[in-house]
Amino acid sequence: MNLNGLPYVIEPMQLPDVAEVMEIERLSFPSPWSARAYRYELQENNLSHHLVARPQRPLAKKEPGFLDRLQRSLGAAASPGVSILGYGGFWLMAGEAHISTIAVRPEWRQRGIGELLLVAMLERAVELGGDVATLEVRVSNVAAQSLYHKYGFAKVGLRPRYYSDGGEDALIMTTKHLTSAAFQSAFQRLKAELRQKLVERFSPQPQEVLDSPSTIP
Ligand SMILES: CC(C)(COP(=O)(O)OP(=O)(O)OC[C@H]1O[C@@H](n2cnc3c(N)ncnc32)[C@H](O)[C@@H]1OP(=O)(O)O)[C@@H](O)C(=O)NCCC(=O)NCCS
Repeated sequence: MNLNGLPYVIEPMQLPDVAEVMEIERLSFPSPWSARAYRYELQENNLSHHLVARPQRPLAKKEPGFLDRLQRSLGAAASPGVSILGYGGFWLMAGEAHISTIAVRPEWRQRGIGELLLVAMLERAVELGGDVATLEVRVSNVAAQSLYHKYGFAKVGLRPRYYSDGGEDALIMTTKHLTSAAFQSAFQRLKAELRQKLVERFSPQPQEVLDSPSTIP
């Protein structure tokens, strides 16, 4: 997707991103992956593809957090500002892009970033020869299911008691063929709508507004 003029960039996740990814991971999932798991995915798993969404420029943290204050009192540099707003990853195996994770900073949700990440992952999967995309999602996760449904994922099965924390069931959701005319025509339309939404919402705003997500209408 052409990101020119948008306030976000999408880039491959790199090892130095893991600390900030972990911050979002802990805020987003009851059973977060470990930093070690992310490092493994980035360094050793050739099937794995991870992306991050960043603001065009790093954002200052509004209030110094406990760790910043502690680091400062110990004479260490405060943690840098926010440079990752969300991330997503998939494994590509035998033509199947298995979306393994997607998360957005809680205070930046419902601004199109999750959708942008999903679009970027589906585009990358097609570039790499992916034929279909699939994933598991908690039966209670209405927000994520709605995002997937919007992008043509349909429920194809259930994994009973899939999640070890509490034994919640997982829905299995899968797309049609990613290169089919039916999928691509809906996908191109959704991308155009997303781009327009992001431009309309953010472009007229001064860059400073990005520092205060709560002031965005
Ligand atoms: C799921 C998640 C990544 C969505 O990211 P987001 O940036 O908030 O989503 P977007 O603003 O791009 O919304 C895109 C679509 O998602 C759906 N959606 C997002 N938030 C929703 C909500 N709170 N309720 C219902 N639908 C929602 C809608 O279909 C929306 O499209 P619309 O704007 O046309 O209604 C985010 O809620 C999140 O990080 N959740 C915690 C982690 C998680 O559950 N990941 C999924 C694991 S399977």
